[in-house]
Amino acid sequence: MKILAIESSCDESAAAVLAYTEDTGAVILAENVSSQIEKHRPFGGVVPELAAREHITNLPHVVGETLQQSGLVVEDLDLIAVTAGPGLKGCLLVGLNFAKGLSFRSGVPLLPVNHLEGHLLAGFLAPEAERPHYPVLSLLVSGGHSELVYSSRPGDYQPVCRTRDDAAGEAFDKIATLLGLPYPGGPELSRAAADGDGSRFHFVIGMKDVADAFSFSGLKTSVMQACATAQRQGDDERLVVDMAASAERAIIDALLLKTEGFLLRQLETNTSMMPASLQITGGVAANRLLREEFSTLAREFSVRFSPAPLKWCTDNAAMIAYAALARVLETGGEVLSEKFQELTPRVDVRSRWRVENAWEMEVI
Ligand code: KG4
Ligand code: ZN
Repeated sequence: MKILAIESSCDESAAAVLAYTEDTGAVILAENVSSQIEKHRPFGGVVPELAAREHITNLPHVVGETLQQSGLVVEDLDLIAVTAGPGLKGCLLVGLNFAKGLSFRSGVPLLPVNHLEGHLLAGFLAPEAERPHYPVLSLLVSGGHSELVYSSRPGDYQPVCRTRDDAAGEAFDKIATLLGLPYPGGPELSRAAADGDGSRFHFVIGMKDVADAFSFSGLKTSVMQACATAQRQGDDERLVVDMAASAERAIIDALLLKTEGFLLRQLETNTSMMPASLQITGGVAANRLLREEFSTLAREFSVRFSPAPLKWCTDNAAMIAYAALARVLETGGEVLSEKFQELTPRVDVRSRWRVENAWEMEVI
């Protein structure tokens, strides 16, 4: 089985070709990610219209090069997978229409994929010894999403905790901006934090006592107030690094608290949802401290720790290809059937699309 995947939900234009046989398992033959960071840097964040226009320019090259590197042509493919949501509507439309065009021209079946499902399956791209085992508890932390999801098999995604306001990555980015760090803020903030004292400022964890919710919006305000107070007290050359370290600590502590709470509840009351593996995935899962802390947490609960490989934490198309493969294998190829494929030309993008409904298809 050979799958081409296309991803354009935010500011990365990405393509990947995956080959699968029973003997080899899933192998990524080629992949490329074209980042638009430089285009958006002057604006301090992603500008949706600009991002969509960039995808129009970049996608044909990215897809063409990836196919060429894989040694395949479109007609060799068994499936074209494309991110149809959630994400920026204009960006999603470029990717979906491009994929529809390829599929129509070549007759290769099309599968719309939920971007969050891609993130949840990124850990399965790791070498076998590091891959998650089902059931998996995944912490999905990115620029747009923060959720803890329990999954007993591909297609079963049960959110057990999700953010009520900002995503963890958004908190990293906004606090980095407050501290005057360059865009994109997450990696910059964690770099600054490495030199700082994370115990200098104590920030309150949002919705501390609510088991099924994260909240990060209050943290920005607390950081702003603490900065103002420290600045009133005079020059302070350690302020930025200490604030970065303390804010990073606060975000990670909140993620740890809710994850540990879920695991404890399973141990004490409902062992049927005790996971075999703990996965962290999404852009924020590239954070070094988060990886260390979750590795320790997994050890404490004797569950396998399976972080998504670093290069597949941030947006990419390999995870979309894998999500398509997992669905084909789990459903005995149902998505390749004529009945299913009759509907795919009418698929629309979904800027909001909850992961528990990842296998639902909305047509127009
Ligand atoms: O998954 P992703 O590439 O895009 C979305 O689907 O949102 O995640 C991007 C997010 C950004 O908020 C970025 O600041 C954050 O991931 N991020 C990090 C790190 N690397 C990326 N946050 C904290 N520490 C990092 N090392
Ligand atoms: Zn993402």
